Amino acid sequence: MTEVDDPHSDALVIFGATGDLAYKQIFPALYGLVRDEGLAVPIIGVAKQGWSLDQFKARAHDSLDKHGGAADADALGRLMNQLRYVDGDYNDGETFAALRRELGGSQRPLHYLAIPPSLFGVVAGALAQSGCAQHGRLVIEKPFGHNAQSAHELDAILDQHFAEANIFRIDHYLGKEPVQNILYTRFANPLFEPLWNRLYVRSIQITMAEDFGVQDRGRFYDETGAMRDVVQNHLLQVLAHLTMDPPSGDDHESTRDQRAEVLKSVRPLDAAHVVRGQYVGYRAVPGVRPNSTVETFVAVKLAIDNWRWSGVPIYIRAGKALPLTAAEVIVEFKRPPRETFGEHVPTSSSHMRLRIGPDVAIGLGVRVKTPGERMVGHDVELILTERPGSDLPPYQRLLGDAMRGIRDLFTRQDLVDAQWRIVNDVLDNVTPLHTYEQGTWGPAEAAELIGADGPWYDPKPGNA
Ligand code: BG6
Repeated sequence: MTEVDDPHSDALVIFGATGDLAYKQIFPALYGLVRDEGLAVPIIGVAKQGWSLDQFKARAHDSLDKHGGAADADALGRLMNQLRYVDGDYNDGETFAALRRELGGSQRPLHYLAIPPSLFGVVAGALAQSGCAQHGRLVIEKPFGHNAQSAHELDAILDQHFAEANIFRIDHYLGKEPVQNILYTRFANPLFEPLWNRLYVRSIQITMAEDFGVQDRGRFYDETGAMRDVVQNHLLQVLAHLTMDPPSGDDHESTRDQRAEVLKSVRPLDAAHVVRGQYVGYRAVPGVRPNSTVETFVAVKLAIDNWRWSGVPIYIRAGKALPLTAAEVIVEFKRPPRETFGEHVPTSSSHMRLRIGPDVAIGLGVRVKTPGERMVGHDVELILTERPGSDLPPYQRLLGDAMRGIRDLFTRQDLVDAQWRIVNDVLDNVTPLHTYEQGTWGPAEAAELIGADGPWYDPKPGNA
């Protein structure tokens, strides 16, 4: 379809409005948008629950109570007045006719698909047929497809009904302040760029640890697994921010172009470079198959085949039920060619640490002399920034941008394709599954994977 650039969306439709994502993320984001930016458009929830508008409002209230509260009574009142509700099946044309009526005079609705990806095609098609798609925007959530092939098919379906300029693919890591800060720190300083390549970088590690299991998302997770849930999207985006070349222009495609470029240079994973784990107890989670071989932990070794990064080993690991919750990047620099003072210095001595969550920090590891007569030293970390979690929740930022038609912080189909290309050959049961105890750093095989490039840096509890 051809592109249609419209100004601010004049209504917001949430499919899956009674579901988990709406409850945890979308209502709090909407409240923030009403309070901070005066969002004042009809917000129409769509779901098949047999609910009334009052029940829907009660759900929104409950969501806000659980996720940060709604201290501003005026904003809360305004949000409640903006809510509408349409109950119905996504396969029933009447649901969309009712939605069209509820939309009234709206010309440019934004449709948020907080529903399983298997329903994206049905809903996009029905939106088009009922006249709700024209000039409309579509927000979809990762994972975009289940593998390279289905991602491609999904894109083809969406493309029939929505212009690319009107499709907003959310990877909420792109809306995180500390992920933006990776780019800012790299490209707003002259200091780091000369070091940021294969000549000076020894290795890169990205760890995303969560100290909880799959909670009430057993059914979703058991169709997904760690590789699809967070590596294929969030963590490869973080890697792209870390390793991309500087954007060559000011337009909003330049940054995405460079991220796409570097992702296209990442070598597709093979089985020898993947370790999968499952925590003990996962199979007892409601919704999980009793003999499930889905991974709740994954560690991978990646390589980027371009001039900047050739030969630099890159490790990513992500897991549920690990010792703590934190996402952190370590860029380890090479030691000097000779240890001038004859010390045994750990390779970790010289590093940059970028903490993405739950708190935010950037630290530079250096070695300083220990006062005294001997030429011996110790490691210190210079903290460039350190603060609690970001003020603007990623979903509020992203939803606000989508309503305004700003696409910079959304991913693009060529990035999605490049990401699937990296993981496509090692999805599902291509590699063995190892079990690990809850509260540990995953199976021992992950330590073998990193071998002499390690050890893994286990994130510490936050300081901020
Ligand atoms: C989601 C995953 O995309 O990201 C979850 O589906 C994961 O499994 C979550 O817990 C982590 O997000 P954050 O912002 O808490 O790091």
